[in-house]
Amino acid sequence: MDNTFLLLAEGYAWLPGLFRGTDRPAVRTRLLGKPAVALRGPEAVRFFYDDDHVKRRTALPEPVLSTLFGHGGVQTLDGHAHRVRKEMFVTLLEDPEGVEGLVAHVRAAWDELVRSWEERSRTVVFDEASRVLARGVCRWAGLPLNDAAADHLARDVTAMVDGFATPGPRHWRARAARRRQEAWVAGLVSEARARSYAEGGGPPARSAIAVVARHRDADGRPLDPRTAAIELLNIVRPTVAVAWFVTFAAHALHRWPEHRERLASGDDAFATAFAHEVRRFYPFAPFVGGAAVRGMRWRGEKIRGGSLVLLDLFGQNHDPGLWDEPYRFDPGRFAGVDPDPDVLVPQGGGDPRTGHRCPGETITVEVLKCLAVRLARLHYHVPPQDLAVPLRRVPTRPRSGFVIAGVHTAP
Ligand code: HEM
Repeated sequence: MDNTFLLLAEGYAWLPGLFRGTDRPAVRTRLLGKPAVALRGPEAVRFFYDDDHVKRRTALPEPVLSTLFGHGGVQTLDGHAHRVRKEMFVTLLEDPEGVEGLVAHVRAAWDELVRSWEERSRTVVFDEASRVLARGVCRWAGLPLNDAAADHLARDVTAMVDGFATPGPRHWRARAARRRQEAWVAGLVSEARARSYAEGGGPPARSAIAVVARHRDADGRPLDPRTAAIELLNIVRPTVAVAWFVTFAAHALHRWPEHRERLASGDDAFATAFAHEVRRFYPFAPFVGGAAVRGMRWRGEKIRGGSLVLLDLFGQNHDPGLWDEPYRFDPGRFAGVDPDPDVLVPQGGGDPRTGHRCPGETITVEVLKCLAVRLARLHYHVPPQDLAVPLRRVPTRPRSGFVIAGVHTAP
């Protein structure tokens, strides 16, 4: 039976539900009218991220491309073309100086905005975190925009993420937001290129806009302005999406206040462990998928050529075979240990250089640490509100967006 409606109805619980009560390494289903097989576990990660097994080019559905990713971005490439494009992201996003620079911009944007929260009766953490992140990442990336434009961008890129997995008004907002931002950023790329040839030069050579504008693809050609815009949005959008994790961090500090003092103290190792546990515990990306390159077997299970192969990220991050008491929020599980990259998979698995794993994990962890520590140091109270995190909604977050009141920065 086709499970597309079940997926829409059950959200994060859908794949873990299929695995429940079976000890098979893979489960079979149908999705979007195609046969599909779902896998989980570190061995499955290694199988899934081998591009001799799974390809992406034709696997991503149109509604996801027209909202979350854009058409022709790195997510849709395979083989050599993917590696060449991916190298651009990895070089830009894994450079320690670049990461530090981005964190510094985000921190400065938080410090600017936090004053306005002191004057308000209530502040929604999700909305404010997305404004902070949009200002920070645009300044870092060399996108020239004033604060009002940054706020607009924050609303548009969060709409793209919010509406990719659902029919109805959220989805149509996501499509419109993508069309608008692609056109606007494509214009900025063309301008940056024109200025680079003119006297006076363009944006700083190491800024993201300059790197994307001068990148050459596997065929030796620069990206057309629309594709360059899609790739710049592949940096801006997910950086702003760290607002989901910041909101979850606020939720965790409220539910388990015993972590606040240590986080506020500036204990860097604890902040790292806290960030990893937020990424593991709370639901964000439910699964990733591709198409089987040919007919093959995995641990005895037959996979037909062309069928969908899904990797259950949320299920793997809560698999009791991999995690002790997976539904307990416990940063201590990451104390003094670097997580195994094929076990902790909130942002995909495998090697980001060779496969599709997220190249923004260092940035996510560092930005999340910075803002979680700032939240832990902030004085506020949490008025009555709906803090439920519905698992049927993808992506989910506390229903209220996490409202705080009586904010003040002084002790
Ligand atoms: C890919 C999650 C933050 C840039 C991915 C994938 C996931 C993911 C699940 C897909 C992996 C796959 O297809 O196998 C997240 C989450 C984030 C986050 C939950 C936190 C909010 C970031 C950041 C950046 C970024 C901060 C950049 C600054 C990308 C790019 C890809 C990607 C460019 C495509 C990689 C490829 O197809 O080769 N991310 N990500 N992400 N992410 Fe992230």
